[in-house]
Amino acid sequence: MDKKTKTIALCGKGGVGKTSVSALMVKNLAERKDLKILAIDADPAVGLCTALGIQIKKTVDDIRNDLINSIKKGKSQDKTATLNMLDYELFEALTEYNNVGLLAIGRPESEGCFCRVNALLKDIIQDMAKNFDVVIIDGEAGVEQINRRVMKTVDHLITISDTSAKGLNVANTIKHLAEDNKAVNYKSMGMILNRVRNEREVQNIKKNAPINVLGWLMEDDLIREFDFHGKSFFYFPDKAKAYKKISNIIEVMQL
Ligand SMILES: Nc1ncnc2c1ncn2[C@@H]1O[C@H](COP(=O)(O)OP(=O)(O)OP(=O)(O)O)[C@@H](O)[C@H]1O
Ligand SMILES: [Mg+2]
Repeated sequence: MDKKTKTIALCGKGGVGKTSVSALMVKNLAERKDLKILAIDADPAVGLCTALGIQIKKTVDDIRNDLINSIKKGKSQDKTATLNMLDYELFEALTEYNNVGLLAIGRPESEGCFCRVNALLKDIIQDMAKNFDVVIIDGEAGVEQINRRVMKTVDHLITISDTSAKGLNVANTIKHLAEDNKAVNYKSMGMILNRVRNEREVQNIKKNAPINVLGWLMEDDLIREFDFHGKSFFYFPDKAKAYKKISNIIEVMQL
């Protein structure tokens, strides 16, 4: 792996396993020697924080709202002071656990655009990312929000899908959105199939898959169990099949 920060964004239909896969990837990358990982929870429901068992103090949205409220109250600050303040607040919002940093984005913007504030926050997140080797973004279903709220460019755009036609349709839509509208800039695109029942399903899907299939995970009771008990995925056993699959997928991605 070269020195430059590599970013991975995961997207896909609701409930297909984005957060579970993200959490397993974070664990796997964190165990590789000398890597610093930034996990970005871009889901308003902060699922990744729960899956990693890390408590967050503040979200990016909280910081944004504080700033907007102070602007509304007429407290004007010059640009440098605002930037310094946001920079400080964002580093405060970063929760660290060994070699993993976790940043939660929070809710989508509720009122108005305040595009300037969003742009500033995005620049600071981008700057923060430079201190890490790998950034993993657990996103909402669409890809637009990654561009709008987190980052302009990602290296690996990964769509998670179950084996259903609906899941694959969403994957296809994401592909077109990413390609045509430049909703997010990416360097490579791949798909991970999740909750597979048997390999025949994978072979069938691969034949017509709109996106290169990087790997797949079976329907897995251990993943369900970790979720059910709210257990941190950092404790997912290294010998478990799903974990080995994730490790292979990361190898295939050639970070
Ligand atoms: N391979 C798997 N085998 C069994 N259950 C799974 C598997 N992957 C995910 N699940 C279960 O499916 C549910 C949804 O998973 P997860 O939260 O990871 O999806 P998501 O795409 O992040 O959902 P959301 O769109 O709500 O953020 C969870 O209950 C999880 O335990
Ligand atoms: Mg999720």
